[in-house]
Amino acid sequence: MISPTLSIPGNPPSDLWVADLDPGWLETLAQEHDRVAVLADEDVHRLHGSCLGSLQERATHLVPPGEACKSFDQLQAALEFCATNGLSRGSLLITLGGGATSDLGGLAAALFKRGLTVAHIPTTLVGQVDAAIGGKTAIDMRAGKNLVGAFHMPRAVFADVRLLRTLPPVELQAGLGEVVKCGLLGGKEAFAQLERDAADLVAGDPDALRRAVLLGAGLKVEIVKEDPREQGRRKLLNLGHTFAHAIETCAGHGTVPHGIAVAVGLQMALRASRAKKILTDQALPERLEKLLRALGLPSNLDDLQLQKTPTTGDLWRAMAHDKKGAVGKPEFILLKDLGAAEWGVPLDQALVGELWNL
Ligand code: GLY
Repeated sequence: MISPTLSIPGNPPSDLWVADLDPGWLETLAQEHDRVAVLADEDVHRLHGSCLGSLQERATHLVPPGEACKSFDQLQAALEFCATNGLSRGSLLITLGGGATSDLGGLAAALFKRGLTVAHIPTTLVGQVDAAIGGKTAIDMRAGKNLVGAFHMPRAVFADVRLLRTLPPVELQAGLGEVVKCGLLGGKEAFAQLERDAADLVAGDPDALRRAVLLGAGLKVEIVKEDPREQGRRKLLNLGHTFAHAIETCAGHGTVPHGIAVAVGLQMALRASRAKKILTDQALPERLEKLLRALGLPSNLDDLQLQKTPTTGDLWRAMAHDKKGAVGKPEFILLKDLGAAEWGVPLDQALVGELWNL
């Protein structure tokens, strides 16, 4: 097996390959385990099952596409599959699909016999730059998304941008929202790279996509190495997310794709940073707007063309219940400069209300 692109040390280490996937690598990984099974999004498996090479013949559990797989019923079915196929703590579960598939498969792997090895083959841009990396796993409850989960670091993540070819355009766009977040957190050169690559990213150019995955995944690996359980710096990866979650809640879950809500959330975070006078480059919100537009992403609530625009009161209430903050007290991440941010910042309801309406 060639050397991974990036690695998070630990026992076992978590290795990330950003490359054209060679099925031989999966076979090498499989040989380190007593048994191998696959958990895959049923649509993705139909389109890309062949990327598994000979492992396609191993026991395979298909799950519904998207967020629908993140339920207690689906978790139980995944665990029954592990039991029926005699998996042990020495076994390997490979997931094939987007962030929802790796969330479910990762959680089943964390729970079955108190933990077996998991490796992810993310097939969405969000999965490749974010969801499959760093060991967060979860299913949803009626009370909210991702409320039941565990940290369970994958042994390996294989990010092959050729798998993004079949991604619906809206999913590519949503992934670009998370990539822009990484550009803001990554620094001046990271942001400038996205500005240079914007047109190629929209066109799905594989080289530009590989650079974007390296940018996002590289930032995430660096942060997760330092703070695997989100005690501090990992919170930065939620830049724009308090606003985004409020938009998703008010619009009704599933109405606005997460990464698209994140795009608006990023612009809100920058406006808040300017209003609080912590942003050094006052022109950054306008520069961000230009980049978002070049990527076909929205930068304010009106761009989302929701059936009913939420009031600032609705949005504030949703933010007050965001699971990332203390109860009733929304917390925000504000940007000081490209590559420099702070987390846990409280904001006044009045100020946030003004920013939504800009
Ligand atoms: N998606 C943010 C994180 O994994 O921390």
